[in-house]
Amino acid sequence: MKTDVVIIGSGPAGLMLGHLLRLAGIEAVIVERQTRAHIEARIRAGVLEDTTTNLLERLNIDGRMKDEGLLHSGVNIVANDRLIHIDINGLTGRQVMVYGQTEVTRDLIEASTERDLPIVWGVDSLTINNINSDTPYVTFLANSETERIDARFVVGCDGYHGPSRGSIPASASQSYELTYPFGWLGLLADVPPCHEEVVYANHPRGFALASMRSMKRSRYYLQVPIDEDLDAWPDERFWDELAIRLGPEVAPSITRGPAIEKSIAQLRSFVFEPMRYGSLFLAGDAAHIVPPTGAKGLNLAASDVAYLSDALIEWFDKGSANGLDGYSDRALARVWKSERFSWQLTRLLHRFPDDSDFERRLQQAELDYLANSETAQRNLAENYVGLPL
Ligand code: APR
Ligand code: PHB
Repeated sequence: MKTDVVIIGSGPAGLMLGHLLRLAGIEAVIVERQTRAHIEARIRAGVLEDTTTNLLERLNIDGRMKDEGLLHSGVNIVANDRLIHIDINGLTGRQVMVYGQTEVTRDLIEASTERDLPIVWGVDSLTINNINSDTPYVTFLANSETERIDARFVVGCDGYHGPSRGSIPASASQSYELTYPFGWLGLLADVPPCHEEVVYANHPRGFALASMRSMKRSRYYLQVPIDEDLDAWPDERFWDELAIRLGPEVAPSITRGPAIEKSIAQLRSFVFEPMRYGSLFLAGDAAHIVPPTGAKGLNLAASDVAYLSDALIEWFDKGSANGLDGYSDRALARVWKSERFSWQLTRLLHRFPDDSDFERRLQQAELDYLANSETAQRNLAENYVGLPL
C-alpha cells in the first residue's frame, strides 16, 4: 500500500490528525494495535478546552458533543473544607466542555468510515523503517499476513508505550521525567453528579475530584498510595472516603451507586524532545505525559495535531518545509506550559507523603492566596481553559 502520511495509533491524536489531513485532501492511513471495540471502551478524562472543541467544530465532528456535552463556566477547589469558586468565564470570557474522551474517540472513529479515512485495526509487530530518508515505510502483521505501507511521512501517535519514540536515536534526543508518589483511584457510576461543576479537593487525607460525564453519570477520583490494591476499595469504602475529602459543602449532595468501572492510574510528567526526527513526527502521549490534574492530556494531543496538520498541509500544498521544520519547537513551547500547569495543580492539591511541615505550610499559603486573590484565580482560569494555539 502507498499513502501520503501513515499514522501509528488511533487514539485522539491519530484520529484528529487523520481527519485534519483528509479534510485538506491529503491521504492518510491509520494503523492501530488494538481492536475498535477495545478503543471505544477505554475510560479516560473528560474536560475539553475550547481549542479542542474548535478543532472538532472545524472537522464538523462536533454534533453529538454539542448535544450531549456540558459547557462549564467555572471550576471549584475545596481547601480546608471551604469551596473556592473560580469563575472561568468571568475571568477569561471562555468556557470548558465536559465531554468524555471516550465519546470524542467514538465520534472520530464513526466519522472515519464515512470520510475515507482508513483505519487498520489489530495490527501486530509494527516496525518503522527508513525514517532518515524521504521514503519511510512501516511493516506489520494484519490477519497473520505481513503488510507494508510506504508513505512520505510517518507520524507516531502511538501513546506513551508505542514504538515510535524508540525509533529516534538516543544521541539525537532527550527526555525529561517526574514521577509522583501516589496514584488516582477512579470510579464511574450512573448517578447524578454531586455538583454542577467539577470540584477538586485538597484534604489532609489526600486529594479528591468530582467530575461527570452527563447529568446521570459521575466520575470520581481519590488519591491513593502508589502501590494500592484495587481490592482494598469496595464501593462503600470509596463513597465514605470521597464524602470526607469533598467536605461538608459538597458531600451532602453525593448520590451513591454501584461502580461501573474502577481502576488505579499512576501519575507521571514526561517530555521527549525533539518531536521530529527525519521523516518521523511524534504527537500526543507518544511525546509527552501530564498528570491528570487539569485534564490536559487530550487537549495537548489536539494542539500538537493542529500544528502538525498545518505544517503537513503547507508541505503538500506549497512544497514548503518551514512549518515542518518549526513543528517540534512550536509544539513543545505549548507542551511545556501545560506541563508546568499540570505539575503546579498537582503540587497544590495533593498530599505529598515526604513533604516537610514547611512545605505543607507553603501549600496552605498558596491555597489561601488563591481563595482571596482575583489575580491568582485568573492565572488558574487562563491555564485551565487552555492557552491559545
Ligand atoms: N502499533 C499500532 N498502534 C499502537 C502501537 C503499535 N505498536 N502501540 C500503541 N498503539 C496505539 C494504542 O493502542 C493507542 O490506541 O496508539 C494509540 C495511542 O493512543 P492514546 O494512548 O490515546 O494517545 P494519544 O492519541 O496521544 O492521546 C492522548 O489520550 O490516551 C489519552 O491520556 C491520554 O489524554 C491523553 C490523550
Ligand atoms: C474526568 O472527568 O475524568 C477528569 C476531570 C478533570 C481532571 C481529570 C479527569 O482533571
